[in-house]
Order: sequence, then structure tokens, then C-alpha cells
Amino acid sequence: MSQVDDYALTISKILGMIAHELRAPLARIMASAEVLQLGGLDPVAADSVETIIRNAEQASKRIGKLVRLADLKRVPPDRERFDALDVVAELARSHGVACSLKCDVDSVDLWSDETLFSQIVDNMIENAVKYGEPGSLKISVYRSDGRVFVDVHNKGTPIHDEDLAKVWTPFFRSRAGSKPGSGLGLAFVKLAASELGGHVRVTSSVEQGTTFTFAMPEH
Ligand SMILES: Nc1ncnc2c1ncn2[C@@H]1O[C@H](COP(=O)(O)OP(=O)(O)OP(=O)(O)O)[C@@H](O)[C@H]1O
Ligand SMILES: [Mg+2]
Repeated sequence: MSQVDDYALTISKILGMIAHELRAPLARIMASAEVLQLGGLDPVAADSVETIIRNAEQASKRIGKLVRLADLKRVPPDRERFDALDVVAELARSHGVACSLKCDVDSVDLWSDETLFSQIVDNMIENAVKYGEPGSLKISVYRSDGRVFVDVHNKGTPIHDEDLAKVWTPFFRSRAGSKPGSGLGLAFVKLAASELGGHVRVTSSVEQGTTFTFAMPEH
């Protein structure tokens, strides 16, 4: 292992430890706020408790992303057989938005890490729902040259050309503040895709919309 890899591993261990440490107190804050909610609060207090819970949930989601990113460097990917189409269809359903899912075959067998695969596609769909025009989500799953491709497409405000290469950088947000987020989703997607021997790319324009493509070997 090179010195740079060693350094990256140490940083990811520290980040992982901090994130793990924050999980328990945050869970206690949420549990206590939920108990308060049961006790007939006046409107001002109820509003504050709701704000506490909403923010704690956001923090918890961000910590989850940080833990997953940190774990990538520590835990080697699994090898298991699964149907990529099943996983993508279930993720599309779980986001509860109108979505067109296109695939020319009934199943797409993969021999890889199902959890990582699912987390990659989940982040891509989450972004398309969050930043895209409502109702514009389109997902395609296809095979080509021994690889499986997943395209996640949305219409809406495109990513600026000068930001396209930066979206993979941890904590980068091209429209910071407009929607909640920590800028960790795509950093995870890029690293996880490379752990699976694959890659991700993005194209974005007003006319064509935004498409994130994840490609990885079938075996
Ligand atoms: N489908 C998309 N359409 C337009 N902009 C996008 C899209 N996906 C990502 N982006 C831009 O890329 C930035 C980085 O995305 P990323 O998923 O890494 O972080 P996030 O969504 O801001 O936060 P997180 O995923 O950690 O909750 C986003 O802030 C957004 O500006
Ligand atoms: Mg995101």
C-alpha cells in the first residue's frame, strides 16, 4: 500500500469513528423529542420539537452517508449473485415517484456486491428526484460488451459545465442551500463504482437534461 493510500485509509477510519460516535447521541435526541411530541405541547413548543426531529433526521442521514463512504476503504466488496433489474425496480418503487424503467430483458444477472450496487443506484435516483423536474425520472438498465449499464435521467436545471467534473468531490454542492444534502452522495458513488470495477459518468444540458450512467462488469 502506498503512503497516499495509507493516509486515505487513516482519514477514512477517523471519519468513520467520528460518524459512529455521533450516531448514539443523535438517536437519543430523536427518541427524546419524539417522547415530547406525545405530551400535548403548545403550538410554539410543538413547532420547535418538529424542527429538532427534522434536523436530527437530516444529520442522521448525513452521518449514514459518511459511514458508508468511510467503510468503502475498509470493507472489501462481496461477491454474490443477484438480479440487477430487481434491485433497480425495487429502488424506483421505494422513492415513490412516477418513473419509467426501461429494460429489454426480464433479468440482468450480476456477480458482485448487491449492497454497494444498490447504494450507488439509490444515490443516483435520490439526486434525480431531488434536483430534477417532477415526473421526469427515467431509468434504463442494459447490457453491452460484458458490462451492465444503469442510466438515471432527469429533466430540469442542468449542472453547470464547470461543475461537471467537481460533483464527485466529497462535500461539493453545485447549488448549496437549495435542497438539503451534504455533497457526499456522488463521492460515494464514484468510489463504490470503482470498487466494483466499474465507473460513472454524467452529461447535463438544458436540452438533453441530466443523465448519470453507472457501468460495471457482469462478472
Ligand atoms: N440529477 C442531478 N441534477 C442536477 N444536479 C445534480 C444532480 N445530481 C447531483 N447534482 C448536483 O451535484 C451536487 C453533488 O451531489 P451529491 O449527491 O454528491 O450531494 P448532495 O445531493 O448535495 O448531498 P447528499 O447526496 O450527500 O445528500 C449536488 O449538490 C447537486 O448540485
Ligand atoms: Mg445526493
